[in-house]
Amino acid sequence: MARKILIAGNWKMNKTASEGADLAKAIVVAAGKSTAVEIVVCPPFTALESVSKILEGSDIKLGAQNMHAAASGAFTGETSAGMLRSLFCSYVILGHSERRTYFGETDAIVNQKVLAALKSQLKPILCVGETLAEREGGKAFDVVRTQTIAGLEGVTKEQVVDLVIAYEPVWAIGTGKVATTAQAQEVHGFIRKLLIEKFGEAAQRVRILYGGSMKPDNAPELLAQPDIDGGLIGGAALQAPSFLDLVKAGATAKA
Ligand code: PGA
Repeated sequence: MARKILIAGNWKMNKTASEGADLAKAIVVAAGKSTAVEIVVCPPFTALESVSKILEGSDIKLGAQNMHAAASGAFTGETSAGMLRSLFCSYVILGHSERRTYFGETDAIVNQKVLAALKSQLKPILCVGETLAEREGGKAFDVVRTQTIAGLEGVTKEQVVDLVIAYEPVWAIGTGKVATTAQAQEVHGFIRKLLIEKFGEAAQRVRILYGGSMKPDNAPELLAQPDIDGGLIGGAALQAPSFLDLVKAGATAKA
């Protein structure tokens, strides 16, 4: 089954509201009517509104980088799915390794967020991936299995088709150390198998993105792999030219 390639930019804690709008403008001008590749940009919360206005009328989708599982209430500093929907977000990154490492997010917390996002028609981009110590200790597949299964607890076959998984080996994030194509495909194939066991045929429609130092020079080979359906891009998403080159790589990857 052909899955549409998805190229998502994770801007992390970069870009003010106006800087974000400028970057979004450059992307819209060059790729606003992209049909071959689905494009998503995930600015910080404070730039969601300005970027949302720029994306209006284009085919580029808006995503957030995190959310709280509750609909509202006394959660100082947090943001709900409904708030993100009100700014026309379609996607939300959940369980990024930086959230797990620096903000103590457990699989159970991430799972609550996944369920809450789906309930509010936000598509989760669920991040999973092992650390260097875990890989060197031969635990990469166990870690990915646990994070995937626990993160998807309670998700139905009907819901899973809206969900995106991002495999991001922690040792490859922001380090310039990219997983080899074979290493990445091996884990992506493993995740696909887990999804098939849990969800049957619906799993063939789930996109599995690679993340971790994806750049225009390594993207074509990664994106040509059968189970790599796109990229979650950090550093290279912060400038329009490199992000647009990744979109181009996505458009020709499976040709
Ligand atoms: P990177 O980040 O492309 O800068 O490695 C990817 C991510 O953390 O999503």
